[in-house]
Amino acid sequence: MSVLDGVINRAQAAIPMDLQVHGLHLYQRAKRAVVGDKQPTLVEEPIPDVDELALTEIDVSNPFMYGQGQWLPYFKRLRDEAPVHYRASSPFGPYWSVTRYDDIVTVDKDYETFSAEPQIVIGVPPEGLDIEMFIAMDPPRHDEQRGAVQGVVAPKNLDEMEDLIRSRVREVLDDLPVHEPFDWLDKVSIELTSRMLATLLDFPYEDRRKLVYWTELAASSAAATGGATDLDEMYRGVAEMAKSFSELWHDKAARLAQGEEPGYDLITLMQMSPDTKDLINRPMEFLGNLILLVVGGNDTTRNSMSGGVFALNQFPDQFDRLKADHSLVPKLVHEIIRWQTPLAYMRRIATRDTVLNGQFIREGDKVVMWYASANRDERRFENPDDFVIERPNARNHLSFGIGVHRCMGARLAELQLRILWEELLARFEDIEVVEEPEYLQSNFVRGYTKMMVTLTPLG
Ligand code: HEM
Repeated sequence: MSVLDGVINRAQAAIPMDLQVHGLHLYQRAKRAVVGDKQPTLVEEPIPDVDELALTEIDVSNPFMYGQGQWLPYFKRLRDEAPVHYRASSPFGPYWSVTRYDDIVTVDKDYETFSAEPQIVIGVPPEGLDIEMFIAMDPPRHDEQRGAVQGVVAPKNLDEMEDLIRSRVREVLDDLPVHEPFDWLDKVSIELTSRMLATLLDFPYEDRRKLVYWTELAASSAAATGGATDLDEMYRGVAEMAKSFSELWHDKAARLAQGEEPGYDLITLMQMSPDTKDLINRPMEFLGNLILLVVGGNDTTRNSMSGGVFALNQFPDQFDRLKADHSLVPKLVHEIIRWQTPLAYMRRIATRDTVLNGQFIREGDKVVMWYASANRDERRFENPDDFVIERPNARNHLSFGIGVHRCMGARLAELQLRILWEELLARFEDIEVVEEPEYLQSNFVRGYTKMMVTLTPLG
């Protein structure tokens, strides 16, 4: 926890959370004016072929790696020649890359040697916005906080959500233009995930796109993940989000106090659990948990919704198989999530000196588990770069991680994708990607910023 978090937490009783974030923003701006901006300057340049480089020159933290399609040969070389690889300098500091499936499982499962604290991105979030989330806490604190909110995605709740999700998917799909190009991200992926999030949070439905905007800001600073977000805009967005979420909390608390029947949304669940009922008094943790659930369920599911369309366009024989046999949808969902790997990695810090696959890692070193590489590890998956719906072990992908932090929303994400594809196949003969998609600048979120498609309806 930074000193600033402590100040914020103590000040909470007297000063509203959004004003505190605003205060931090002003403080940071003044500090930047005096000591300069510590954000790395990231300018896109053509990434050289990996064969031209010595092993020590390889830096897979480059946020343009995915967009330039270079990530495949880079990670393959690391897996083959240096599966636990040290990069001494990068815009995000020195770090180890772990790129083989089995080694990542070892690291992810050993939380005592490889800590998720203080956060899980490769770089450093802007000061004061190193918000506390249980994805970046070790047991036992992690387990308490996760335990408090995981009921929202319990199987019983998901069963109840299925009809609602399906009706929302239908509404969105029935409104889509046919025979003319449109941006799949805007009209389908973002729209559907924001509707789902508004439901999970019981957030005002008409403001749902704000959730998308805020979480994009919160996860995409240059120093944290190589993103392109302007720091001032980020502070403003987080202050607005803090205000809105704390209003939502107080509004719900008041309704509960008046005897209203508790809902099954995340905020109410937090208010009902002894571990989190006073979370509002720990603002950085409060914000962190909400952001975690919103970010967790936003970029990832959204990019899987887009990635599936792109994959099926790149492997048209697979699209034909799917159109001929809709019962393949559950298998399709696993393969989409493996192939896309919406989050490229999670980062850990070694808590003691240790040896991993022959490499000596020192206490305090940064260790990055590249799930995007594990899912393309030929030691685990046959022809891993191909998209194969009936791949027998697709569901063993590491896109959701493994170990104590394994994704809490995995079942929900799979449910949303299954319903989306069932409903798409029931309506459309073809979904054609008509232009090369545009990619997000990030080394963390593997996503798209635009994907133009044209739909052909059935019959
Ligand atoms: C954790 C990926 C959807 C909520 C994680 C982790 C990954 C991940 C890689 C960390 C795993 C680790 O450290 O071992 C994904 C992907 C998704 C997805 C690829 C969609 C395809 C969702 C959804 C939600 C969600 C829909 C919302 C309910 C969370 C939470 C955690 C988490 C709360 C923290 C779990 C913990 O620390 O115990 N997710 N996620 N995720 N995810 Fe997801």
